[in-house]
Amino acid sequence: MSERTLVLVKPDGVERGLVGEVISRIERKGLKLVALEMRQVDRQLAEQHYAEHDGKPFFGSLLEFIMSGPVVAAVVEGPKAVAAFRQLAGGTDPVEKAEAGSLRGDYGLEVQYNLVHGSDSAESAERELKLWFPDLAA
Ligand code: CMP
Repeated sequence: MSERTLVLVKPDGVERGLVGEVISRIERKGLKLVALEMRQVDRQLAEQHYAEHDGKPFFGSLLEFIMSGPVVAAVVEGPKAVAAFRQLAGGTDPVEKAEAGSLRGDYGLEVQYNLVHGSDSAESAERELKLWFPDLAA
């Protein structure tokens, strides 16, 4: 059965010219792009998107970072799309957790500047897709 996930190329990935690389890996994996858009994130969207991290020591800088430049937001679909993109992304910390061969493992150094976001569960995907793409039918 097919599912959908939200993928973001964060401001560092856009700034470094890695949008094509991220999209290319998504397509090569066999996942399908359902929607794709460049966006400037405002504070309201940033706070809603990262609501679960409210109160953590890095919450403020996380918001500032995601608002610091344009992001590319994508709806990605396929069998086990949530897990499939997380595999492509690699673990949250690009050096300590992400394996070489993953996007973060290949291109990242610091946990805040970890290039991409992918929904972490089917439930998160549903919430995030409603937030980012409210007009997209499920
Ligand atoms: P993301 O998948 O977008 O979800 C939450 C983000 O918080 C995560 O990627 C990291 O970029 C960021 N993050 C997690 N832990 C830390 C940390 N210790 N310091 C700064 N940012 C963090």
